[in-house]
Amino acid sequence: TDVAFVLGTRPEIIKLAPVVQACQRLEVEYAIVHTGQHYSDSLDSVFFDQLELPEPDYNLGVGSSSHGEQTGRMLIGVERALTELDPDVVLVQGDTNSVLAGSIAASKMDAELGHVEAGLRSFDRSMPEETNRVVADHVAGYLFAPTEQSKAYLLDEGISEHRITVTGNTVVDALLRNREIARRKSTVLADLGLVDDDFFVMTAHRQENVDDEARFRDLLAGVERAAEAHDATVVYPVHPRARDRLEAFDIDVPERIRTVEPLEYLDFLRLSAAADLVLTDSGGVQEEACILGVPCVTMRDNTERPETIDVGANRLASTDPGQIVAAATEMLLRSGDWENPFGDGDAAERILRTLPLETRSREVAR
Ligand code: UD1
Ligand code: UDP
Repeated sequence: TDVAFVLGTRPEIIKLAPVVQACQRLEVEYAIVHTGQHYSDSLDSVFFDQLELPEPDYNLGVGSSSHGEQTGRMLIGVERALTELDPDVVLVQGDTNSVLAGSIAASKMDAELGHVEAGLRSFDRSMPEETNRVVADHVAGYLFAPTEQSKAYLLDEGISEHRITVTGNTVVDALLRNREIARRKSTVLADLGLVDDDFFVMTAHRQENVDDEARFRDLLAGVERAAEAHDATVVYPVHPRARDRLEAFDIDVPERIRTVEPLEYLDFLRLSAAADLVLTDSGGVQEEACILGVPCVTMRDNTERPETIDVGANRLASTDPGQIVAAATEMLLRSGDWENPFGDGDAAERILRTLPLETRSREVAR
């Protein structure tokens, strides 16, 4: 195998899909190792179907547990799968525990490791994702930084420049490929009885927000007040982690927030493109709102996507209700015509061209 993809969660499936498809176009041999970190259909198989990806060659079925146990089980399974596949290159994407396991396993084997979406930093070591991305960046030989900013963070940590390539973010590749398809095919607006530009979309699933009862309650109260102030409805596709916490904390979601099941990719794209405002603690959702020209309020204390703030597409609000309301009011006045800082949609091909692949001389170089 030329390339082995190690992936395990919703955002990795979405953001690696363009790279898998570029392998198909350029006749690069590949295999997919799925850790099984995400396993519910709504976070996993619907994305393979909708993005027309082949079934994974391996599914390690690791599932949910504590960080150490989950990562440890993945490490054992990924090492076994990679030993059988003997790839030239292993690719991981982002900052999840699947990335941590894939990176550690690959870095001790006879394969090159590439990290897609390298160099993002929140500078908040209390986030598990920050540990994961720092480790992946320091053990990978090929660092695919989405922006000059992420490259600069890597250089600041002493990583040598020859390991880094600025490619843009593959989220743009995925979005450009699917935006029109979503407009044509998705019936989500009609299904939910929504009219364009008359509603907000929110997502909230991050451990530091939803596992902390006070922060989760604050966040919901802030979104409710922002919706009241602008007489809007809010659609909230609820991630299973958040669903679990809503039940455990016995939280009644406020009236204006309509909870729905996690959406398929095309429906989520259609919904966010049509929204007045996005409120989120997700990484990928901040990027997509920015690319779609929809203003975003990020309900966190920091972001590893500062480019979105720099171009005027995003504002940090923490989970404080007053700050969420103020940020929503401010962002609703923005025009949406900022530049897209995440590249031109050719990140996936740039990544393949940079990798040391035998087949490259045949096809990729053309
Ligand atoms: C993980 C990533 C996070 C990423 C998110 C994308 C880590 C440390 N976190 O968070 O960075 O933003 O994926 O969505 O890697 N669950 C299900 N079904 C599933 C998966 C999870 O019901 O298919 C529930 C379980 O109750 C589980 C909880 O969600 O305990 C958390 O799952 P986990 O994979 O540990 O982290 P995420 O919150 O999904
Ligand atoms: N997404 C989706 N359906 C939803 C919510 C999100 O398809 O109901 C997509 C969204 O388009 C984005 C990705 O999931 O591409 C973001 O993943 P998530 O928020 O789970 O993780 P993060 O980016 O924070 O790691």
